[in-house]
This record gives sequence, C-alpha cells and structure tokens, in this order.
Amino acid sequence: MANLDHLITEAEADFAACDTTTALEDAKAKYLGKTGALTTALKGLGKLSAEERPKAGAAINVVKKGVEAALNARREAILDAAQAAQLANESLDITLPARAQSQGGLHPVTLTLQRIEQLFHSIGFDVATGPEVETDFYNFTALNIPENHPARAMHDTFYVDDDHVLRTHTSPVQVHYMEDALKENKTPPLKIIAPGRVYRVDSDATHSPMFHQVEGLWVDQEISFANLKGVVQDFLQKFFERDDLTVRFRPSFFPFTEPSAEMDMSWNGGWLEIGGCGMVHPEVFKHVNIDSEQYQGFAFGLGVERLAMLRYGVNDLRHFFNNDLRFLSQFSK
Ligand code: PHE
Repeated sequence: MANLDHLITEAEADFAACDTTTALEDAKAKYLGKTGALTTALKGLGKLSAEERPKAGAAINVVKKGVEAALNARREAILDAAQAAQLANESLDITLPARAQSQGGLHPVTLTLQRIEQLFHSIGFDVATGPEVETDFYNFTALNIPENHPARAMHDTFYVDDDHVLRTHTSPVQVHYMEDALKENKTPPLKIIAPGRVYRVDSDATHSPMFHQVEGLWVDQEISFANLKGVVQDFLQKFFERDDLTVRFRPSFFPFTEPSAEMDMSWNGGWLEIGGCGMVHPEVFKHVNIDSEQYQGFAFGLGVERLAMLRYGVNDLRHFFNNDLRFLSQFSK
C-alpha cells in the first residue's frame, strides 16, 4: 500500500491557507470527507490480505490522526485570531476623559416654594398642608361657596366622584387647620401658610391644569386689612428684593372673605395680578366653631408659578411642567 504520510504535510498546507472556519471545513473534506483520501484508503483495506490489513490500517490511522491534529490546531488558531481581532476592535481608550456626572437640582417651583416658606417663617408663620383630593365640603361648602358658584361646575373642576374633587385652591387648608387647632385646644393667634398643588380645567401659556398656590391665614383678636396689606407687601418686597415694590388692592368677591380684594403688585411701571385676599368670612368661622365676634383673620392666596415666572423671567408657565432638561438645568446650582 502506498505511503500516505505526505497527506499530513499537504493537509497542513491546505489548512494554513484557510482564514475562516467555513473554509477550513471545506478543506477538511478532501482528507476526511466521504470521498476524502483517508476515507478512501480505509475503504481499500478490505482488498488487502489478512496479514497486510492490520499494519496498513494502523498506518492509515496514524496519518488520519495527524491530519485531524492539523485540523484542530488550525481551527483553534482561526478562532484565536478572530477573538484577538474582536478584542482589538472593541478596546477602550482608558485615557479618554471621564463622562461628567450630571448633578440633579431642585425644580424652579420647589425653589420658589422654599423661598416663600423661608420668608413667611421668618415672620412667624407655620406651614400647614391638606389633601389634594378634597371633599366637596372642605373645597366648597365650608368656604361658603354656594351651590351655583361657577367653580363648582364640571367644566371648571376635576371631579373624582360626586363628593370628591381635586382641590381647586388651597383655601380648604384654612378650614382643616382651624378645625384641627380647635381639636387640640389651640386658640388664636393662628398663623399659617399652606403651599401646595391645586387643579383646574384650564390650559394655556399662563394656566396649567395643575399649579401651585400658597394660602396665608392669620387669625387673632385684632387683625385688620392693614395687617394683610403690610404682610403681603413686605413679603413681596423681600421675595423680589425690591424695596420700592408696592401692592394695590382692588375690590373683588370671594364667598369665604368679606371684604375681598384682588392683589396687584407694581411691576415695570404697571400692575400685575398675583392673587386674591380678604378678611375671613364669619360663615367660615362658624363652620370651625371660632367666635367671629371675638376673632378676625385675614386670608390670601398667591399663585406660585406666577411668582416664579416673574422672578426668573420665564414667559410661558408650561415650561415648568414640560420636563425639558435644557430648561430645568438652568435652575440647578
Ligand atoms: N382661593 C382663592 C382662589 O383660588 C384665593 C383666595 C384665597 C382669596 C384666600 C381670598 C382669600 O382664587
């Protein structure tokens, strides 16, 4: 039988010429495939005599093992090279400067609320809160808002069910606070601000369906309209850091205050409306069992976004709620 040793060198050369495992599998067929040289040689053993067969078989197997070894070695080499190429491709340049950690910041409305709370705190006002889903009673009835008042209409107010609304103003906190104070045997002076979210069916450049108000309430034995005006003006002067800022009251109507006024502040030579106010209506005191012969109080409600817009020079209220980081990041310190 012919010597087959040369097949090993041939196979090594063939395999070495293959760059991919697919090419390698094709090259393998020439030696180890169904009609490959070694398969054919093994088939030919049958023609040999019984004495020759074992020796020839052993010789073929040695060559077969050699070819297989060459195949495996090449296969491994191709895979190693592929991996090395991939690693080289995906390598990172650790000398690149690191990506900066972006630092979050407080929302401009939050910053404004903090400033408001701080200023009122400095003149002795506590901060009170109340629920945002309010009963009809606290949002309307206890505030002397009559059945036919427009604020009660479906198209102005978000009703949760027949008896619950998303509060349309922070004034119900007045009622909660006075009620709770009485339960705790706390008597006037009662002096709070109540900041928080309120909801109305309203949406344009200066109105959002959700916005923030700050309610103010000061109940005592000798509280007057003059105190109200002084507190509001003093607050606004400090808030805007402008000593020349003045406040103008325009007669108005709110069912829960009497008399009532709209508050305007001087701004760039004109007047800007910033909220409503008045003296607490006796009907409201009646709901919370405070003797209106003995006590009076003032209340006011300010629009927080309005204050934030003026302070920061923002021209569209919707910017506050669009969550655009290009806008919001300008306020983070
Ligand atoms: N709650 C009123 C509003 O939302 C504002 C207000 C508060 C008026 C307190 C008077 C007293 O319009």
